[in-house]
Amino acid sequence: MGLELSCQLIATQKDERIKKALATNLSDLLRYQNMLCRYDTMALKSLDIFSVHGFPVGLVQCESNLLGIVSPKGINIGSGGWTNIIEKYAKAKRYCDAPFEVQQQGSRKIQVPIPGEWIGEEREGARRRDVIIECGNSADAVLEPESLDAVFTDPPYIGNVQYAELMDFCFAWLRRLVGPGFPGFDRISTRNADELTVNVTEGRDLSHFTEGLAKTFTAMARALKPGAPLAFTYHHNKLEAYLPIGVAILDSGVNRHRNGTPYRLPKGTPASGCIGSARVGPELSV
Ligand SMILES: C[S@@+](CC[C@H](N)C(=O)[O-])C[C@H]1O[C@@H](n2cnc3c(N)ncnc32)[C@H](O)[C@@H]1O
Repeated sequence: MGLELSCQLIATQKDERIKKALATNLSDLLRYQNMLCRYDTMALKSLDIFSVHGFPVGLVQCESNLLGIVSPKGINIGSGGWTNIIEKYAKAKRYCDAPFEVQQQGSRKIQVPIPGEWIGEEREGARRRDVIIECGNSADAVLEPESLDAVFTDPPYIGNVQYAELMDFCFAWLRRLVGPGFPGFDRISTRNADELTVNVTEGRDLSHFTEGLAKTFTAMARALKPGAPLAFTYHHNKLEAYLPIGVAILDSGVNRHRNGTPYRLPKGTPASGCIGSARVGPELSV
């Protein structure tokens, strides 16, 4: 009932920007306001449904306070209530205004500001930027040749996470709220045959994943300016899971080096993950 009332209230918002922000917050809230949430006895807070990549049904359910609990000093307690979600959103917005890097200094982590940097479309005294967000198959992206300064990607890791199957959970609510006329909400499910995951039940095998990744990297390589980087992150604890990424790099030609130096992971790369970058043109750095 609390979720339904929240949706009704959001739906009455006249300001589209506020309405969309609240809808985004609602999708986060949903993760903590359902019968599949568990209580983390170490962290003393409720865990959201996606703390594991599946829908396990626990013996004991945990119900988070819908509005949130704020201490007399104004500090949010626990997790999963509106006050927690709004605080998280405000923190993300503050990061957009003043982004920073996190660096390890001895045993503590410090924030290092990035002067002059900001994220968004407009800001007083700065040149306006156009930000375009599209929901589609990256393998089919139509991009001008040699038009991109850089590509940063975080592709799926084979079948580790079934994104669409999980996201249907929030999508069902959001679709009612924003309506099927909104881009990306014109379907009844987020499930998609083009999803780049291995999913035996849906008939998507390793070839589907490898071919899709190679097609995406090839499209990006064509669209990158000469010498521009394609940076990616990829994580898996099985060695063979890295073969598709190798195929994608080799097929796309992003690693092509003048004297044919082979693709190599950086020294010290953890066995379960890597962050790599390859360039179109003479220089290779992976
Ligand atoms: C490892 S996650 C990236 C998460 C992202 N870095 C973030 O922080 O939200 C991989 C993403 O690729 C998306 N994806 C799967 N197949 C895709 C495709 N064919 N084209 C574009 N994106 C796809 C998934 O839905 C998922 O959101």
